[in-house]
Amino acid sequence: MKNGWKFTDDAGSFALENPQQSSALYFPLANEAGMMASITPTLAGDSKTGQNSFLLQPVSAEDLEGIKGGRNFWVHVPGKGAWSAAGSSAAQQAQRFDQDEAVRVEGGFLWHRLTRESAALGLRAQTTSFVPDGQTKMELMRVRLTNTGATPLTYTATAAIPVYGRSADNVRDHRHVTGLLGRTRVLPDGVDLCPAMTFDERGHRPNAVHYVVLGAEGDGALPSGIFADKEDFIGEGGSMEWPRAVVESRVSTDRPGDAIDGFEIVGAPRFAEKTLQPGQSADYIVAMVVAASDQEIGLARQALSAASFQRLFEQSQAFWAAKLGRIAFHSGDTQFNRWMRWITLQPVLRRIYGCSFLPHHDYGKGGRGWRDLWQDCLALLLLEPQSARGLLWNNFGGVRIDGTNATIIGSQPGEFIADRNNISRVWSDHGAWPLFTTLLYLDNTGDTGFLFEKQTYFKDRLALRAKAQDELWTPEQGNRVLTDGGAVYEGTVLEHLLLQNATAFFHVGEHGNICLENADWNDALDMAPDRGETVAFTAFYAGNLLSLAALLRTLAGRGVACVEVAQEMASLFDTLGESVDYASPAAKRQRLAAYYDATRHVLSGRKALLDTLWLAADLEKKGDQLSEHIRTREWLPGGWFNGYYDNAGAPLEGTGADGVRMTLTGQVFALMMDVASDEQVALAADSVRTHLRDPKLGGYRLNTNFHEVKLDMGRCFGFAYGHKENGAIFSHMAVMYASALYRRGRAADGWDVVGGLYALSADFEKARIYPGIPEYFNPKGRGLYHYLTGSASWYLLVLHNDVFGVRGRMGDLELRPQLLAAQFDANGVAAVDTVFAGRALRVEYRNPRVLEAGQYTIAGVLLDGMPLPGTGPAVCIDRHVLSSLDEAQPHTISVELSEK
Ligand code: G1P
Repeated sequence: MKNGWKFTDDAGSFALENPQQSSALYFPLANEAGMMASITPTLAGDSKTGQNSFLLQPVSAEDLEGIKGGRNFWVHVPGKGAWSAAGSSAAQQAQRFDQDEAVRVEGGFLWHRLTRESAALGLRAQTTSFVPDGQTKMELMRVRLTNTGATPLTYTATAAIPVYGRSADNVRDHRHVTGLLGRTRVLPDGVDLCPAMTFDERGHRPNAVHYVVLGAEGDGALPSGIFADKEDFIGEGGSMEWPRAVVESRVSTDRPGDAIDGFEIVGAPRFAEKTLQPGQSADYIVAMVVAASDQEIGLARQALSAASFQRLFEQSQAFWAAKLGRIAFHSGDTQFNRWMRWITLQPVLRRIYGCSFLPHHDYGKGGRGWRDLWQDCLALLLLEPQSARGLLWNNFGGVRIDGTNATIIGSQPGEFIADRNNISRVWSDHGAWPLFTTLLYLDNTGDTGFLFEKQTYFKDRLALRAKAQDELWTPEQGNRVLTDGGAVYEGTVLEHLLLQNATAFFHVGEHGNICLENADWNDALDMAPDRGETVAFTAFYAGNLLSLAALLRTLAGRGVACVEVAQEMASLFDTLGESVDYASPAAKRQRLAAYYDATRHVLSGRKALLDTLWLAADLEKKGDQLSEHIRTREWLPGGWFNGYYDNAGAPLEGTGADGVRMTLTGQVFALMMDVASDEQVALAADSVRTHLRDPKLGGYRLNTNFHEVKLDMGRCFGFAYGHKENGAIFSHMAVMYASALYRRGRAADGWDVVGGLYALSADFEKARIYPGIPEYFNPKGRGLYHYLTGSASWYLLVLHNDVFGVRGRMGDLELRPQLLAAQFDANGVAAVDTVFAGRALRVEYRNPRVLEAGQYTIAGVLLDGMPLPGTGPAVCIDRHVLSSLDEAQPHTISVELSEK
């Protein structure tokens, strides 16, 4: 990597020289309290606590070159003029391609440091930014100025933070009028903008949010003056890149206690003139705060000294180190091990930011979709196991009684909001994910009791998979399903899972596959709601039905003789009573329609008891029927699966006049869920390599070029080929493909995919992103939608569970390594630090003869030096063995690999 970032320590900190010469670079700064910021190499980016409370003006990736709304810190040297520590001055911007100033960005968990050094001024500015851990919604910035010249340097410094202070909706719409709502107090150390109202033409409301900028010198000394009126700061004809207040060294006329109402605001503390001797430094602290009260502003003010900054900085680093340190990989590739730390961070970032609020993520108003909620849990189960149970339980409260789910998810756990926009949509894959995630939880914990926890069902006006309305429902009845007696209905978590998968089974189209409805995982397959079918997710549901059956058999083995479900649901387990002809899509739909009729408004509240083993057998018949159907009816002569039917009822994939039409999604779940036969796996993997592997970049694309804007399939075919959901190298699906390959024992193919994504992400010359995995790579290899992507969660899971093969099995620990020879270090060792059964473990594989995956087998296992039983491709360690270990210290499981 010639010009890219380089890691500077094992924790994953990195440095990048000349970052200003790459476009659209951004770094996240956030805390659990919900401060969400982004920062660029010129300190641009934005900061907010939600859609309606942006402190800095919202930016999209396209706006990042513009610096108007960003943070700035000015130095004025008499006789030499104005200079920006951010490089955000008109003069420095014009010279940004010259190597005149040395510029470097460093990043770590979760801090950002920009260093700029001007030879002409003999001055170095080092700006460190982070969001302190804790409840305060605040970004802190410390600017350290150092005289690098040989003579004393006299200057005046001024911080300059334009305060936007309103909703993202008003970037253009009512931009001026919302400024008129502004009420600003000039403080001794900054500005406090607290608009009179929040602007919303559906009903304006009083505002209580303060947008505050505070500044102090390192020793806590107050600024010598404050500029608050942005118009005055800029001056007539000036700009934020060349403000007359700085350039002409004007004195501020704003005084502490002044009120500035109805004008645009800047938080610009001016500091007293200072002289630095050669080698001497001075610190300035700036706080950018979103506060709910004066008291919170007071708390933020306590950060305004170099000592407090340092203390908070160290606390914040300790917070992230503890959170991310639970899992660490030690393969032969040190750079990869460090890169993985950023992958580990990403699911936590998505929990904080949702799918909005970083510069590429210019859609949505915060929050995550249903699918993303469950995907992110995959990693959070590993990283935050203590909150996993509650998190999953809350999520189940979003399931509707028709098997679909709420799609608007609030910011509080378990908060689901009724559809207000009259957009009634159903994603056909949504019902499939909860079981996948719950199985991971059960495997890690053995907590089958979770399945019998009671949870409610979500209720809104939508019924029959959003095809109809429940005319009898009113908002006053609340958002939970009731019984006809008016009580809130509750069913077990297991009942929720049975419902989601059984309703999907019956909801099939004319070819016998599950209806696509308004899209599936691929959100952009959104134009085939009538006749579209998703074979891809039919395979997923088939796997789920079989997994549920296996789970029921395990439960039966543990003494659970019967399972309770709502009486109305019993008809969905038809083979226990009046069987449905599975070969007839119409008969299936009819059975579902009868269930929907019976449950449209309320439930009886009565329960049916089903024999656990009979229920298992029923689900096996269902799963087998779908699997057999896909294996035989959806297998194409070219050697891969057809993944979809379009709105005209025609198969999406195959070979025609325009060449090969193939999707990756169509293959992934058939392989992953054991629907495909071994022979089909081999052929499909060959086809994927032939048709979907990008020969130039090396990654795997989402689909081939259809050369058609397929209006009967989805908006993705309107995107130019190679972008986003139309054939980009789309990380999430690629990682799931890798997982499928590992599950089918194809380690070399699997690593080609996940290792390839790492290579693409780390190829800075092309990808132009900081360490981590982006949502996708465009045809030039640029990484887009960095950080907030479900692929990170899956990447961690694949590496941990499939590559290192460290996974739970109903509470016990299974080790089934699939590491390639090249992944071991020079001593033939590869290890992962993890936590299982509440114990910190290092699982270390010793492969002295450097054998390949497939050639080695486990010859012996030592736990803290004591031999454990078991040899072969996998060994299982009983949970009790681990849970009886001392909790206070880490333990080592050493696994010896030898030739098969
Ligand atoms: C994004 C969405 C995800 C969706 C995918 C494909 O991908 O968040 O829900 O399934 O696009 O349309 P991500 O990279 O976040 O997984």
